[in-house]
Amino acid sequence: MNQHTPAAALACAGLLGYCRAGFEKELAAELDDIAAEAGLIGYVRAEPDSGYVIYETFEPTPLGSFGEATDWRRPVFARQLLPWFARVDDLPERDRATPIVDAVKASGQRFSGVVLETPDTDEAKQRSGFCKRFTEPLARALEKAGCLRTSRAGLPVLHVLFTSATSAWLAAGQPGQCSTWPMGIPRLRMPSNAPSRSTAKLAEAFMTLLEDNERDSIVRAGQRAVDLGAAPGGWTWQLVHRGLRVTAIDNGPLRDSVMATEMVEHLKADGFTWRPPRPVDWMVCDMVEQPSRIASLMAEWVATGRCRYTIFNLKLPMKRRVEAVEQCRELIRKRLASVGPFDLRIKHLYHDREEVTAFLTLKR
Ligand SMILES: C[S@@+](CC[C@H](N)C(=O)[O-])C[C@H]1O[C@@H](n2cnc3c(N)ncnc32)[C@H](O)[C@@H]1O
Repeated sequence: MNQHTPAAALACAGLLGYCRAGFEKELAAELDDIAAEAGLIGYVRAEPDSGYVIYETFEPTPLGSFGEATDWRRPVFARQLLPWFARVDDLPERDRATPIVDAVKASGQRFSGVVLETPDTDEAKQRSGFCKRFTEPLARALEKAGCLRTSRAGLPVLHVLFTSATSAWLAAGQPGQCSTWPMGIPRLRMPSNAPSRSTAKLAEAFMTLLEDNERDSIVRAGQRAVDLGAAPGGWTWQLVHRGLRVTAIDNGPLRDSVMATEMVEHLKADGFTWRPPRPVDWMVCDMVEQPSRIASLMAEWVATGRCRYTIFNLKLPMKRRVEAVEQCRELIRKRLASVGPFDLRIKHLYHDREEVTAFLTLKR
């Protein structure tokens, strides 16, 4: 490959988003809005329970014209968001590499690496063993064809999404614009002494909703935190594990392993009416309640300076989930309008089912 295209000139065919199976409709609605805002002209395709959504432009569009539209942080329901440039079908069982290499060569783009993925469905995950085995041979074939430059970290990463054994979508993951975890799923080890599996949700929220440079600067040992709806103590455990002292609010009991840390004060109180005597650094909230009530409470704590940062869950209705998220966004926007600019980040995490997780703080 003598000539190669700068990433901004790569002719793209649209956007490829990964999501939890069953949330394609929600992601499709978001991608439609994002594409329209970016001035892209095309249409969205989403198969129920497929675990991914395609936005296809009518004409090939240079990557540079997508602007902010490729930022995976923006759509709530996307675990990953990538500009795609080719789809390869009818891959022969004996040589799947050649048609993929040919399509990559035709794009004129060089890549710093290659990731083989499947949608996150039970059916597709049966191909994960194949993806592992095929990664090395495909990388070698791409390298031989001059399409891989592993030493050039600034180049995009090639994502190959196998939606069946014989079809794959080819997409360009740009540094800083896409999730860095394969399939958009952060790998977290469940600590054996944590009191509930929900501890992984707060750990994922810290990893996903905070930027790398924020994680150590705004979550620090010695800070004070409040956990509203804390029992049995998974989120409290996660905070204590990071060296924070926690006031845990719940009528239910906290596990002995959490109380034994001596970093926790447990108060049996109503999370909607209890307020801290002094401002705290963090407030987290996992109470199961109507999302609009939770959003209003979170905005109130931030607006009145009771906490500086908050992470909270919004339980979603079965229908009109996007509208429910938008209603919460609007409630927060209205409450904070007179207070100052704020940062609200909302994501449907891997550990979330019928809920989304949000981070809120005032901008300083
Ligand atoms: C999903 S559980 C929380 C799990 C917890 N985050 C963990 O990691 O172990 C929800 C909790 O919210 C509590 N809760 C619900 N409404 C509440 C309220 N008004 N005040 C305080 N706690 C409440 C429930 O008692 C329940 O323990």
